[in-house]
Amino acid sequence: MLLEKMLQSQGFGSRKHCQQLIKNGVVVIQDQTILDPKFKLNLQNLEYKVHGETFQYREKVYIALNKPQGYECSHQATHHYSVFDLFNDVLMNRGLQCVGRLDQDTTGLLLLTDDGQFLQALTHPKKHVAKVYQMQTADPIDNIQIQQLETGVELRNEKGIFAATEVKQIAEHELSMAIHQGVYHQVKRMLAAVGNKVERLHRAQIGQLKLSQLAEGEWVYLTEQQILAAKNQSIEPLLEI
Ligand code: URA
Repeated sequence: MLLEKMLQSQGFGSRKHCQQLIKNGVVVIQDQTILDPKFKLNLQNLEYKVHGETFQYREKVYIALNKPQGYECSHQATHHYSVFDLFNDVLMNRGLQCVGRLDQDTTGLLLLTDDGQFLQALTHPKKHVAKVYQMQTADPIDNIQIQQLETGVELRNEKGIFAATEVKQIAEHELSMAIHQGVYHQVKRMLAAVGNKVERLHRAQIGQLKLSQLAEGEWVYLTEQQILAAKNQSIEPLLEI
């Protein structure tokens, strides 16, 4: 691939802008400043520097973020920060999107990508990838509520029944459960439907990918294995990030 095209594909701006960067002598490959925009590259394991910062060539990007509270999953956040504020312009120029949404007050595992097929695979209602949530509730959780969540509840203006699996009570006011769809405010509405209220919500897992080491506000690129784990329709074995 031509150097100018590679830089454009990685989010460094228009073809013209990338040509200019190269001509300005700020693009370095294997310790060589390359001044020819038409320089031919082998993309395999390619590392390069722009303005002294090292980048790795990635055909597509797959990111896991431990989302903090107070961040919206929209580009034009109105009342809070946007999760996109956590990423640099180069990534944003690639058309990074959230894979599904978390509410601004929900913390935990959020995936972002510029790969439309991956996004579809995880968000399409027919794919049924499980998402595991942990929550604190306003009222004590009882067995009737657990049973109702497992059997399924109706949600206003939504077709069908919404049931949870792997429903586990952790403490009097703490519950963990998996859901397999992703309608608006689903967990909060399911808990409201059984007569309780979510006070804090955290997404711990998507498919087989479980949040573990990543601190709030931190993000990492996913490996091939982690990408497959996130798409998996079963929730075990776990792969921790
Ligand atoms: N369900 C909710 O109610 N909120 C979220 O952020 C995610 C799932």
